[in-house]
Amino acid sequence: MIVVRTDKIKAGQILAEEVRDINGRLLLAKGHAIEDRHKRIFKIWGIPEVNLVGADHHEATSDPSMDAAMIEQTKKSVETLLCHVDPAHPAIKEIYRLAVKFRCKHNIIVEKNHLPVDNQSIPRHDREQNFLKKLQKKNLILPEIPSVVFELKQVVENPKSSAEHIARVVSRSPSLTAVLLKIVNSSFYGLPSKISTVTHAVSLIGTQEISVLALGICVLSIFKKIPKETIDMQSFLRHSLVCGLLSRVFAAHKNIPQTEQLFVSGLLHDLGRLLLYIYFPDESRHVLAHSRNRNKLLYQEEKDYLGCDHAQIGVQLMKQWQLPLILEHNVLYHHKPSEAQQSVPATIVHLADIIVNSLGIGSSGEKFVPPLDYNAWENLKLSPNSFETIIGQASHQFQALESILYA
Ligand SMILES: [Fe+2]
Ligand SMILES: [Fe+2]
Repeated sequence: MIVVRTDKIKAGQILAEEVRDINGRLLLAKGHAIEDRHKRIFKIWGIPEVNLVGADHHEATSDPSMDAAMIEQTKKSVETLLCHVDPAHPAIKEIYRLAVKFRCKHNIIVEKNHLPVDNQSIPRHDREQNFLKKLQKKNLILPEIPSVVFELKQVVENPKSSAEHIARVVSRSPSLTAVLLKIVNSSFYGLPSKISTVTHAVSLIGTQEISVLALGICVLSIFKKIPKETIDMQSFLRHSLVCGLLSRVFAAHKNIPQTEQLFVSGLLHDLGRLLLYIYFPDESRHVLAHSRNRNKLLYQEEKDYLGCDHAQIGVQLMKQWQLPLILEHNVLYHHKPSEAQQSVPATIVHLADIIVNSLGIGSSGEKFVPPLDYNAWENLKLSPNSFETIIGQASHQFQALESILYA
């Protein structure tokens, strides 16, 4: 038996192990001969590879585009990024292996840049000062949240909401309706027939799921308008989107029904950093430069310098916007999930963030891979062997969603 990438499978080859989609639904049973239509199904569901009987080993593993020097260079860089985690931990070992593989394949290099620190321009802060209080006092003019978000929140929090109710709310925003239908018809869901109305989408995917998805899209769209000089928003959105997708696939893998809730939690997990970059550019430059130049974790530097980290700042904004409590909870604990009341969803976002940082898909400003919360990891009861398939599924969905959400 050997693992073969799905784009390399040939019709007639025999499956050595069953293939399931992200919801655990059986796509093809063990022992089946693969036909062209199966290859299409694997593609729709983002199955990156399958186990085949008697496959040619050379076909499965060789990749002529990777030369030895490049692999060695990437290994060294990834080791630097992982300097705040235990390299002997089984989950980290696997993340390291996959990060090297992914970065070599996509030619992702580690930037070595030191950021300039202009001491004259850095505002002095009392380390004990509570930045959150300052944030409240400053009375920021926050980006206005569309009224549809408040209504969507009510739909999300009311278990009796009907398909018609959500369709009525969503249809008031033609752009939201269009984006939502594009997503529903993409490989994000892999539905067999075309969905042309929100009501139909809700009946297939669920009221709560569609509402929370719509809510996430609305919040994301607010930040698309931020000027480029402030922050590399594309890189930030990429980091957020992949974290959301990984969270969603992990949730499905763990049979957690609220997959969309996890998607949106991942999407918004570093929201506080956006607030910092936009409204506190001097402080942001300081923490970014100091963390990078001193090889310190960014959220630790935030805590030391501001008295709070971006997770707390993000939650303050979410409270102001009255976003659902479970989203607040997952965002607040994404760097310390073992302290969360509901540790499993927070740990999923935590793990997704660690993986997306290791792979180097976009960035929210953190140079290093944040440390794994070992207690939370134990509680999640997940095998590191599942990471590769989960990353494959999430990156396949990323390709489908990126163009829709950035349009
Ligand atoms: Fe974070
Ligand atoms: Fe992050």
